[in-house]
Amino acid sequence: MEIQGKIAVVTGGASGIGQALAERFHADGAAHVVVVDRDEAGAAAVAESIGGTGAAVDVTDEAAIKQLVNDTERDIGPIDLFVSNAGYVTLGGLEAPVEDLNRMFDVHVLAHLYAARAVVPHMVERGGGYLLNTASAAGLLSQFGSLHYAVTKHAAVALAEWIAITHGHQGIKVSVLCPQAVATNIVTNSPTADQLADRGANVAGADGTLTAEETADVVTESLREERFHVLPHPEVAKYVERKGADVDRWIAGMQRWQTAMFDADRHPANWLTGT
Ligand SMILES: NC(=O)c1ccc[n+]([C@@H]2O[C@H](COP(=O)([O-])OP(=O)(O)OC[C@H]3O[C@@H](n4cnc5c(N)ncnc54)[C@H](O)[C@@H]3O)[C@@H](O)[C@H]2O)c1
Repeated sequence: MEIQGKIAVVTGGASGIGQALAERFHADGAAHVVVVDRDEAGAAAVAESIGGTGAAVDVTDEAAIKQLVNDTERDIGPIDLFVSNAGYVTLGGLEAPVEDLNRMFDVHVLAHLYAARAVVPHMVERGGGYLLNTASAAGLLSQFGSLHYAVTKHAAVALAEWIAITHGHQGIKVSVLCPQAVATNIVTNSPTADQLADRGANVAGADGTLTAEETADVVTESLREERFHVLPHPEVAKYVERKGADVDRWIAGMQRWQTAMFDADRHPANWLTGT
């Protein structure tokens, strides 16, 4: 898909990867970009800078997502690309409260479902459309130190796969963005920002930290090629291959990697308790 002349909606568009995507789509000639975020002022500022529309929406509110889609279709035009990108990080393992897992599931998974079921019927009616869902390399591999992030991002990938398989014949294209570390505001924007900062948490990557703009470069190229996996860190493809080839070997390698990454005091299993 070429973004030129297209109408795009980007959630989590006030900051980081979502902001970079909104700006890139505009620079590449999108007809209109709707910048969605629960941060109303942030969404408005990004929208203003690219001549788009800002929308203050919590993506976990299904009625609000439905209204966003219907208002956009009515007032701006048919949505060609819906980017479900809002998200955040937390730390914690088996002891972390289930309520926190449910809250993260709402943002990382159900929000993608709400968007898909609001927009896909419109897209099918006109012969097709595109969904880009931001998961993470954690959704294909795992996330040291955050059970909730690993689980919800896997579910996000599963949902994207399911939609691609089920609705491909109706012209629905799907890509899932799975980066490792990207320099954004995700730590400060997350509910456990202080804890993450105290622990010196680094969201992902052993393979380098990309800028959000570099991530947007890879998204643009992947959308053009209509590739399902969008992998700004190309190493991730190799890890996925290894995992598929021999999962026991992969788990043993991840165990060694985790041990090597953290000394006893900073072992992810101890991040929450500080022991
Ligand atoms: N930064 C990384 O290293 C990294 C790596 C892999 C995946 N990701 C994923 O990329 C996506 C974007 O993260 P980012 O790094 O740009 O972070 P960010 O904090 O810079 O941007 C995320 C935006 O999402 C918004 N948001 C969060 N919850 C929301 C909600 N319920 N409703 C509406 N908006 C909400 C925030 O206000 C923020 O503006 C997330 O899904 C994240 O999990 C990030």
